[in-house]
Amino acid sequence: MTVKDQVCVVTGGANGIGRALAERFAAEGARAVVVADLDLAAAQRVAGGFGGMAIACDVAVEADLVKLMEAVESAYGPIGLFCSNAGIGMEGGLEVSDAAWDRIMRINFMSHVWLARHLVPRMLRAGGGAMLQTVSAAGLLTQLGSAPYAVSKHAAMSFAEWLAITFGARGLKVFALCPQGVRTALLEEASQGSMNFLVETALEPAAVASAVIEGLASEKFLILPHPDVAEYFRRKGADYDRWLRGMQRLQKETGIEEIMQA
Ligand SMILES: NC(=O)c1ccc[n+]([C@@H]2O[C@H](COP(=O)([O-])OP(=O)(O)OC[C@H]3O[C@@H](n4cnc5c(N)ncnc54)[C@H](O)[C@@H]3O)[C@@H](O)[C@H]2O)c1
Repeated sequence: MTVKDQVCVVTGGANGIGRALAERFAAEGARAVVVADLDLAAAQRVAGGFGGMAIACDVAVEADLVKLMEAVESAYGPIGLFCSNAGIGMEGGLEVSDAAWDRIMRINFMSHVWLARHLVPRMLRAGGGAMLQTVSAAGLLTQLGSAPYAVSKHAAMSFAEWLAITFGARGLKVFALCPQGVRTALLEEASQGSMNFLVETALEPAAVASAVIEGLASEKFLILPHPDVAEYFRRKGADYDRWLRGMQRLQKETGIEEIMQA
């Protein structure tokens, strides 16, 4: 598929990966690009750059997602591609509070469930549509130093798989975007902790947007802007225990072991 002449929505579109996606979709000739974000002023600046629409939306609130869909449909008609991209990072392990677990699970995982609950029936009625979830390589492998990020992204990945299996034959295209490090505020904030070892190989958000355009064109479920991730995932599947030992070594080498034991 391509985004040309499609109505595209991007959550978390005011910054980072979401912003790069929105700008690229506009440049590729999308009929409309909607930038949805908690930060409305920043979303308006991004949308203003290409004549798109900005909408305030907290993806941790189901009613906000419903309002977003309704506003887009009444302005432009059926949504062709919805990128459920907004997400947060979080450091920590056993000490993470229930409130923090709840927050990250709502944003990084339940947002996709709430979205699908309302969008999938609409897309099936319209004869099809595409959903792209920004997951992370952490949803296939793990996130050293962050139990909540690793778990919330695995849950998101599992849900994307389930959607693809359940509705793929009925016209729903599902894509899971799984980058490693990308040069954004999220990586910047985490680069002193669990994500420090990802900085060296980090990509620019525009490169991730290019990988998405290619991934949509090839209609493959998994979009991997860092191709090495496919090999790491194969190794995990081939010998889980060896992979776990390798990750323990990496945790030691990167200094994350010390952070986790401090
Ligand atoms: N940067 C990386 O290294 C990296 C790697 C893999 C996956 N990801 C994933 O990519 C996605 C985008 O991250 P990014 O790096 O571009 O981050 P970013 O911090 O640059 O941008 C995230 C955007 O999401 C918005 N946002 C945050 N919470 C929101 C909410 N509840 N509702 C609506 N908008 C909200 C923020 O205002 C911000 O504009 C996330 O899902 C993240 O987990 C990032």
